[in-house]
Amino acid sequence: LTSERYRVRRLPFSRLSPQDVAFFQCLLPGRALTEPAALEPCNVDWLRSVRGSSTLLLKPQTTAEVSQVLRYCSERNLAVNPQGGNTGLVGGSVPVFDEIILSTVLMNRIISFDTVSGILVCQAGCILERLNEYLEQQGFIMPLDLGAKGSCHIGGNVATNAGGLRLLRYGSLRGTVLGLEVVLADGTVLDCLASLRKDNTGYDLKQLFIGSEGTLGVITAVSILCPQKPKAVNLAFLGCQNFSQVLETFTTCRAMLGEILSAYEFMDEKCMELVEKHLKLSCPVRDSHFYVLIETSGSNSTHDEEKLNSFLEQAMTSGLVTDGTVATDDKKIKMLWSLRERITEALTHDGCVYKYDISLPVGKLYDLVTDMRARLGQSAKNVVGYGHLGDGNLHLNITAESYSHSLLDAIEPFVYEWTARYNGSISAEHGLGFKKKQFIQYSKPSEAIFLMQRFKAMLDPKGILNPYKTLPSSS
Ligand code: FAD
Ligand code: MLT
Ligand code: ZN
Repeated sequence: LTSERYRVRRLPFSRLSPQDVAFFQCLLPGRALTEPAALEPCNVDWLRSVRGSSTLLLKPQTTAEVSQVLRYCSERNLAVNPQGGNTGLVGGSVPVFDEIILSTVLMNRIISFDTVSGILVCQAGCILERLNEYLEQQGFIMPLDLGAKGSCHIGGNVATNAGGLRLLRYGSLRGTVLGLEVVLADGTVLDCLASLRKDNTGYDLKQLFIGSEGTLGVITAVSILCPQKPKAVNLAFLGCQNFSQVLETFTTCRAMLGEILSAYEFMDEKCMELVEKHLKLSCPVRDSHFYVLIETSGSNSTHDEEKLNSFLEQAMTSGLVTDGTVATDDKKIKMLWSLRERITEALTHDGCVYKYDISLPVGKLYDLVTDMRARLGQSAKNVVGYGHLGDGNLHLNITAESYSHSLLDAIEPFVYEWTARYNGSISAEHGLGFKKKQFIQYSKPSEAIFLMQRFKAMLDPKGILNPYKTLPSSS
């Protein structure tokens, strides 16, 4: 089905033979699986929008095993699909045809944590939420957080350069990842697992693998800088009547909250309707056209609350915000965050979801939603906008009862042309994967794409690593 919908042809990789399966079963006893029940969840993506037909799932535990797997696959010309928690949203995490699935699920060991520097070193298959829980016990947190935290792996996060809910405060993984261990397509182990804040010795090779979506190497271990767990966290969930007020509230709170601002997220009223309807969550704020979630994280609760209260007073008296609620206790904070974090899940209950993850100049962010809504009229069930406003990142989602070619044609390439007109990015944080790779030219010049293809050819000359993903084919 995937190949029909996307009109893609299988490349001439070898077919898996009984001898190949026997080799892997000997290398990974009990961890080279061929049973359909084991393969089913790994062949289909989180959105249930693309499906592969792999017949082999490998679960290595060590870097040496990953190296042996890839050396063998390279010699035999067998294609491989690296997989973490399989929460990716662009079809990059599942095979397109019969690629072998190489899962990091058993590579979940914490290697070290330095409580002085805050540097964590761990295997790639550690689940983000488990890492955060481990760190919290020592007074630290992970520098990233996202709705998929309960299943995504840190290796998958690095491979997609995931952004998420804390980027506004702690920056991207390009800054917080200090080192990586990566196995290249031919089995070579590249040990760049430095645990140093500063290291200007030659090119920064790890950056090539951050955001490379499994196409240049398999990340086996990560060294990452973790911030202190904030002593005081406050949340304000506010209602605004129009998008200009959402923007003005952002500039006002940035000016008034300064260094304690740690998240500024927004969602429109359609999103709120969907989380209420499908997930039975209830919104404590009076009906509004837009909602914003403002988080502060600091070290002194009195100081932070004072700042937040004077910001709220200013926002209310100037009419920027019409209603709102504040939370300081853990339970209410989690409840308010879930209204925003669970939009992704709520949307799937509508049927088919067309997902777009766009970077734009912040002032233009919502115009795309309005234009799309007008363009699609009744042919879409819902056209919604939410996202990381503080990072200039819009999640435009369109839902329908079921998939249709004609609706897709009405959305694409319009959405990409619109984005390119304002010099935006057609993938702010989810990557290109399988679904978006043919649109890369809307955000990158041909010279850059050509150079990327040369890097790919140099690091993976047979093209066995996650074929059909990220880059358009060179022909
Ligand atoms: P997978 O989905 O398994 O894989 C993703 C890609 O990385 C694939 O191309 C795969 O081949 C490659 N890959 C995985 N592991 C490795 C490895 N060890 N070495 C090399 N390549 C590898 N993303 C955001 O950026 N911000 C968000 O806020 C956010 N929120 C989300 C909320 C929900 C509810 C869901 C379902 C997804 C969300 N995502 C978000 C998308 C997704 O969670 C991220 O892309 C995440 O980083 C993927 O991690 P994973 O372990 O699930 O990787
Ligand atoms: C989010 O910010 O919620 C995620 O990126 C997932 C999504 O886009 O739905
Ligand atoms: Zn996001």
